[in-house]
Amino acid sequence: MNVAVVGATGAVGETIVQVLEERNVPVAELHPFASRDRAAAVRFRGDRLDVRTASDEALRGFDVVFFAGGEDASEKYAPGLLERGSVIIDNSATFRMQRGVPLIVPEVNGDVVRPEHRLFPVANCTAIILCTALRPIRDVAGLKYVRVATYQAASGAGRAGLDELAADERALVTGAPEPAPSVFPRPLARNVVPQVGAFDADGWSGEECKVRDESQKMLGLPELTISVTSVRVPVRTAHSEAVFLETQRETSCAELAAAFDAGAAIVFHRDGIVTPREVEGTDDVHVARLRSETTAEKGRHFAFWCVGDQLRKGAATNAVQILELLLEKGYVAA
Ligand SMILES: NC(=O)c1ccc[n+]([C@@H]2O[C@H](COP(=O)([O-])OP(=O)(O)OC[C@H]3O[C@@H](n4cnc5c(N)ncnc54)[C@H](OP(=O)(O)O)[C@@H]3O)[C@@H](O)[C@H]2O)c1
Repeated sequence: MNVAVVGATGAVGETIVQVLEERNVPVAELHPFASRDRAAAVRFRGDRLDVRTASDEALRGFDVVFFAGGEDASEKYAPGLLERGSVIIDNSATFRMQRGVPLIVPEVNGDVVRPEHRLFPVANCTAIILCTALRPIRDVAGLKYVRVATYQAASGAGRAGLDELAADERALVTGAPEPAPSVFPRPLARNVVPQVGAFDADGWSGEECKVRDESQKMLGLPELTISVTSVRVPVRTAHSEAVFLETQRETSCAELAAAFDAGAAIVFHRDGIVTPREVEGTDDVHVARLRSETTAEKGRHFAFWCVGDQLRKGAATNAVQILELLLEKGYVAA
């Protein structure tokens, strides 16, 4: 199986290459692409690979093409590559909400994949973490509404986001003039910024709409009320979420705790807390601080905290898991 990674020098693309190696995916040849050529810029299985400029011509003939190059690259190259028979696994938002296109988190809705599917968008990172955590609750007690406040890391805005946070932190420490923010709407160091993406006419940010719409699609609950406030925080990697929900049926913390314990890709912390720095570099969604809003034994209103590395489970690991699922089902040949 020959594989291309578009955006291989970026935060997500670099992690895809790393996860392909870590998980021993049967890749015969790996070819990294970006917006320009760079010699020996990507490491894979002990080799240093040249990065080539992406183009229609250069991307032809791969069995599988991962996109982590932003909306432009996906829009420009993916349709032609699909016509020529490549499987596309795309981290951009371009195709996520198209009808008939599956939006897969293997642990949540891997069963919707069909042999004719060739285009696999990878959902928004915050939505993947949220849906992984919500799935056991949906299955045990149903979901009526979900409200979530997010605490999103700087690397959610790619390398440029990390660089801007680091430059701002350096300036504050050294007393140099703070650089004007360009990636984030306000300086991020020693701050929290309640805007991720542009606001629409009703005041919702682009990120908030993606989390709502994509979570409804992945959970298979198009009518579920999901209300999101997305906030950027001065954390390097891993998104955190404070989740408040109402279930369809009465349930208890004990029943939900058991469901989290048994949940795929979830580490449930019965006691104490979990923070983004502790989960950076890991593939599970960590759930903690489960509590009921009522003192009665059973109820419908609950709250919990969850954290996941958005570059891994929220992007690269989920993308590679989609390929593993296709290999397992025999829809892609090794
Ligand atoms: N960061 C996250 O947490 C996260 C999570 C989920 C999904 N995503 C999505 O994943 C994608 C990549 O995000 P990122 O955070 O990794 O961004 P990034 O760090 O800015 O990296 C972008 C990569 O794309 C390449 N690129 C840009 N334009 C290109 C073009 N026209 N043709 C080919 N390559 C191009 C860049 O190459 P050069 O280095 O040559 O410019 C770089 O390798 C985006 O669609 C983003 O929305 C990101």
